[in-house]
Amino acid sequence: RHSEYKAQYNILDETTSFYQEQLRTSSHRDQAVTYLKSRGLTGKIAQVFGIGYAPPGWDNLLKKIGTTPDNLLLLEKSGMLIRHEERDSLYDRFRERIIFPIRDMRGRTIAFGGRVLGDDKPKYLNSPETDTFHKSRELYGLYEARKLSQKLERIIIVEGYMDVISLAQFGITYAVATLGTATTAQHIERLFKTVPEIIFCFDGDSAGRKAAERALEATLPIIKDGFQARFLFLPEGDDPDTLIRRESREGFEKRLNEAPLLSEFFFRSLEEDIDMTSMDGQAKFSNAALPLIQQMQTSLLQQMMLDRICKVTGLTLDQINNTINLTQSIPS
Ligand code: GTP
Ligand code: MN
Ligand code: MN
Ligand code: MN
Ligand code: MN
Repeated sequence: RHSEYKAQYNILDETTSFYQEQLRTSSHRDQAVTYLKSRGLTGKIAQVFGIGYAPPGWDNLLKKIGTTPDNLLLLEKSGMLIRHEERDSLYDRFRERIIFPIRDMRGRTIAFGGRVLGDDKPKYLNSPETDTFHKSRELYGLYEARKLSQKLERIIIVEGYMDVISLAQFGITYAVATLGTATTAQHIERLFKTVPEIIFCFDGDSAGRKAAERALEATLPIIKDGFQARFLFLPEGDDPDTLIRRESREGFEKRLNEAPLLSEFFFRSLEEDIDMTSMDGQAKFSNAALPLIQQMQTSLLQQMMLDRICKVTGLTLDQINNTINLTQSIPS
């Protein structure tokens, strides 16, 4: 079993080198290099993240690395080759795309992301889930962040590959991205094992705002005293990549430092559509907030958030608890 995984890591390593070599030598490399330049990436940062290129064609990788039955099996197993069932033949998953190797904590490639050079769809393609790649656990850029930073004190969670890479190029070397999935409890737990502060920084669009609310709900049951989470909202239409290019490191870090903390964001987003001056509004607010606060770890933060509800409603904690328990015990 162990040696089976070893062979899989080896073939993914060879595949990484193949794509990197294609970025240097392919007869189509000009369009890839032009694209990377148009995105403002330097050769240096491309090297740090091991960026490569899958040229056009259905069998470049297949012909280069799938030279034995064993290799073909490994490439298929790791999702690099797709089987065409009717023809019973294999073909390359990644074609005519910029390639981003996804690495584990030890720096081994476990999967790839690939971006089209233009506006075709799908814009990004990721490796499928495999024995060695679990999207709900892995974070793009975590290996690089640990390598680039002397000591990590906080980590930013962003949406995309290009966000991680641009931030790093501009000196913010502590960003990671989820891989086309929502932020999971596993992601958050993993990051809190590495740093005491997480800053969520999603795109300034409706999808980004939804992602932030889901991230809040995933963080609430996990956060403990001594740890903190912030939520940075970007101007409409921006993502971290576009913003850092305009405001550079200083501007972006100022925003990070001033970003609302979890409790601020929590109350602010609950109060948003509620008339807090009316009793009915205050009750509505409390009923929405309490079940979420109940999910939190017993902590000073939890107590203080409960205290806030008491202040808003003028009720004591006992009155609130009695009411909640009563509500819960009414049979449906
Ligand atoms: P750029 O256009 O290269 O700047 O990408 P972006 O990261 O800004 O893209 P966007 O904000 O649209 O999406 C954020 C992230 O979601 C991407 O980095 C991908 O990981 C993922 N994503 C976006 N589009 C697709 C898609 O078509 N398929 C898949 N599987 N994932 C996608
Ligand atoms: Mn597994
Ligand atoms: Mn977006
Ligand atoms: Mn972008
Ligand atoms: Mn984006």
